[in-house]
Amino acid sequence: MRIPLSIPHMSGNEISYIEEALSSNWVAPLGPNVDEMERLARLYTGSKAALATNSGTAAIHLSLAALDIGIGDIVFCQSFTFAASANPILYQGAVPVFIDSEPETWNMSPQALSRALEKAARKKTLPKAIIVVHLYGQCAKMDELMALADQYDIPLIEDAAESLGSTYKGKPSGTMGKAGIFSFNGNKIITTSGGGMLISDDEAFIEKARKLSTQAKEVAPYYLHNRVGFNYRMSNVAAGVGIAQFEVLKNRIQKKT
Ligand SMILES: Cc1ncc(COP(=O)(O)O)c(C=O)c1O
Repeated sequence: MRIPLSIPHMSGNEISYIEEALSSNWVAPLGPNVDEMERLARLYTGSKAALATNSGTAAIHLSLAALDIGIGDIVFCQSFTFAASANPILYQGAVPVFIDSEPETWNMSPQALSRALEKAARKKTLPKAIIVVHLYGQCAKMDELMALADQYDIPLIEDAAESLGSTYKGKPSGTMGKAGIFSFNGNKIITTSGGGMLISDDEAFIEKARKLSTQAKEVAPYYLHNRVGFNYRMSNVAAGVGIAQFEVLKNRIQKKT
């Protein structure tokens, strides 16, 4: 018998939000549904700021770009993960260094991270960021990992693509590091058909990422761009699917626990 890892389940209300988006002509990658998705993400996680994106990969990429990670910079990344955790490091021309997992959570080993940081400090090759993944909904050992990130003053990004709804010592996944990302791909606990979210308590950081997600367009009466930007915003139609899915998130979590 085949047991699917994760299949999409519609709540039934998606169609009404999609119809509303189409009939009101809000079909662009902005609009009331996108705003509502960001509000729901803030409400659900308790994070101060949220940015809806067109994929979880885009959210990871924006987090690195907003940290000004560039060519030749080193980023530590969990080795046991989906390739999308690491690909954005290469988009920025940075260098991924993979840190092994530990057997209890299957996520980044605090001991391996500690050893890698000590070695990097000696060689003066400390990373500009650390990407920890909460794989299959299982949170990494965040107390130990955050203590190391704080000790070396390195921003930690939580790839919570697979863990919306999980908590670590009562804290929602994605809320413990500098920033967290979720994926709303079709194989996640809730979906927008394709989409993601970047969250952080640092509102300025999210506003910087928001600007980068809209081609880094400056505020000017003409097209002015001072750095490379991306087209990474969530569509208002896709966000309609997401709102209806958020309505059943608690129920989905209960079914999984
Ligand atoms: C651990 C992990 N990181 C990142 C991603 C990327 O998310 P997306 O497919 O929305 O780009 C996924 C899922 O696909 C994932 O499982």
